[in-house]
Amino acid sequence: MAVHPLTSLALTALLLSVVVVVAQAAASASSDNNHHGIKANNLVVEACKNMSSDLLLKSVHFDEERCVSVLHSNNNSMVAKDHGDLVVIALDILDNRTNTVATKIDDILRGLTVRDKAWRAFKWCSADYGEMVRRLPVCRDFFLDVKPMGKKTPRSEAMDVLTCLDGLGEKSRDCAILLANNWDFDKTEEFYDNTRYINLAWGLTEMATDCRDNDANW
Ligand SMILES: *[C@@H]1O[C@H](CO)[C@@H](O)[C@H](O)[C@H]1NC(C)=O
Ligand SMILES: *[C@@H]1O[C@H](CO)[C@@H](O)[C@H](O)[C@H]1NC(C)=O
Ligand SMILES: *[C@@H]1O[C@H](CO)[C@@H](O)[C@H](O)[C@H]1NC(C)=O
Repeated sequence: MAVHPLTSLALTALLLSVVVVVAQAAASASSDNNHHGIKANNLVVEACKNMSSDLLLKSVHFDEERCVSVLHSNNNSMVAKDHGDLVVIALDILDNRTNTVATKIDDILRGLTVRDKAWRAFKWCSADYGEMVRRLPVCRDFFLDVKPMGKKTPRSEAMDVLTCLDGLGEKSRDCAILLANNWDFDKTEEFYDNTRYINLAWGLTEMATDCRDNDANW
């Protein structure tokens, strides 16, 4: 099991501690604009706090600060009313990330001329990300079907969404490990990071549907 590059994680944590101070100041000021026009949705802050403390997000996840800043990067988070709204936002953000990473993998692959172990790792990743790009709208459709039922969603239907996301998480993690071992370890952080975006959507889905997915192993 590869280890995350610590330096870039530490730097990220440092930068994000600034973001969370701003977010918390805004959250405690009021739910409307404060004097600087900065808004924060308390639901986002509280959901991220709960996910971090709950161990809901298992091994690969954003810390509370990053969770808040990622969700707040989408304007819809300001008007989100429940966990279901946050899941849709997380899936939209994830869709953008997954497509961006998929494009990057194919760009790098095109530039590799020697069929060595790095090339083979990128071939695997390209195939897996292609599958992830196609599967994500399916997970989203499954979730939109159960969203109105919220915490009353039958377990089997909630598990269809969670299992769909589990599959993405496994592929994303495997690709990151392959690249770390066969390409350039120092450049793999954004591939590991994609797994955290999947984990965010997955954890919020658990909260929205009040269903615990104990089978996930990524
Ligand atoms: C956070 O957890 C507390 C305690 O379980 C719960 O009462 C609250 O509704 C949760 N809030 C969110 C936004 O998840
Ligand atoms: C979010 O809203 C602000 C203020 O309305 C706007 O300036 C900004 O462009 C919006 N960002 C996105 C990504 O839609
Ligand atoms: C992701 O979002 C950014 C900013 O909104 C946008 O410029 C970019 O085109 C999006 N990328 C994909 C692959 O959707």
